[in-house]
Amino acid sequence: MNPKVEKIKQQLDQFRVEIGEHLEEFRLQFLSKKSELQQLLGEIKNVEPDLRKEFGQIVNNLKQYAQELFDAHKDRIESATPVHASEIDVTRPATLYTVGALHPVSIVMNQVCEIFEKIGFASVSGPDIEDDWHVFSALNFPQEHPARDMQDTFFVNVNPEFLLRTHTSSLQVRTMETCPPPIRVICPGRVYRNETITARSHCIFHQVEGLYIAKEVSFAEMKQVLLFFAKEMFGEETKIRLRPSYFPFTEPSAEMDIECKICGGKGCNVCKYSGWVEILGCGMIDPNVLDNCGINSKEYSGYAFGLGIERMAMLKFKINDIRLYFENDVRFLSQFAYTQ
Ligand code: PHE
Repeated sequence: MNPKVEKIKQQLDQFRVEIGEHLEEFRLQFLSKKSELQQLLGEIKNVEPDLRKEFGQIVNNLKQYAQELFDAHKDRIESATPVHASEIDVTRPATLYTVGALHPVSIVMNQVCEIFEKIGFASVSGPDIEDDWHVFSALNFPQEHPARDMQDTFFVNVNPEFLLRTHTSSLQVRTMETCPPPIRVICPGRVYRNETITARSHCIFHQVEGLYIAKEVSFAEMKQVLLFFAKEMFGEETKIRLRPSYFPFTEPSAEMDIECKICGGKGCNVCKYSGWVEILGCGMIDPNVLDNCGINSKEYSGYAFGLGIERMAMLKFKINDIRLYFENDVRFLSQFAYTQ
């Protein structure tokens, strides 16, 4: 073998071990125009014709080997180049991980439950699929009441004795049937009504209903508890008013309004220019209901109330379309990620 080739080969082998730290030296020694290897390339044309091919191949292979060695080390060094502290912009905002968050309905549901739990209400749950007794009959709904109609209630196809609860008052019935008074419970849950879906109503929504039964319970007590709730939920300055209303299971019945949080009582499209928005239904439990559920109405009395969570969340977060809650659009949902 040509002694020059042999020499370069040996040098390359030696250099290979430490090339990482001496990349530029390596380049000068083997790849620059003045390097011996490059000069050898220039000599190919002077070699005798019958040896030229073989010589050319050897020298070219050597050149290729050196180039590959150089490229590989260069890449490795560049990708591993340490970043100097001065090159890091420590003032750049950190990238936040996108973590899951509670749905606005859950946030408000939890808030409502916490407020009532603070004053001694225990939370109860029960089935979404109910029977007529727990949703209507025990609660004094007359047989011909429109809520019992197919148009208003979802019945289970395979067995129309069962239906999707239209309110969580069914849980109040279940509690009265199984727990001796005094009773102080809230019933959070999902409810279903056969309604056209619009910006203001949906066929699925959530309620928290409340029930208090003891001896000599007064309407004034109920009002005080609901005032406490309104202030805790919407702020100390919140004003409430009770308007007479009708529910089959309460007598007297009322609806409670709070002063509109959007316009501060001046009038806007949310409160329909009245300055007030309805937030719940309430009343003293009809003695028939107590008797239906095995509680002596001569001995005990009580009050009940029920509120819609979506509506409450609309007021709290100024949301104007109930359908947004059920579309699961992350652009909507992520706005509440840091609310709770
Ligand atoms: N159950 C009623 C509803 O769903 C609300 C309510 C509960 C009203 C308790 C009065 C007393 O609309």
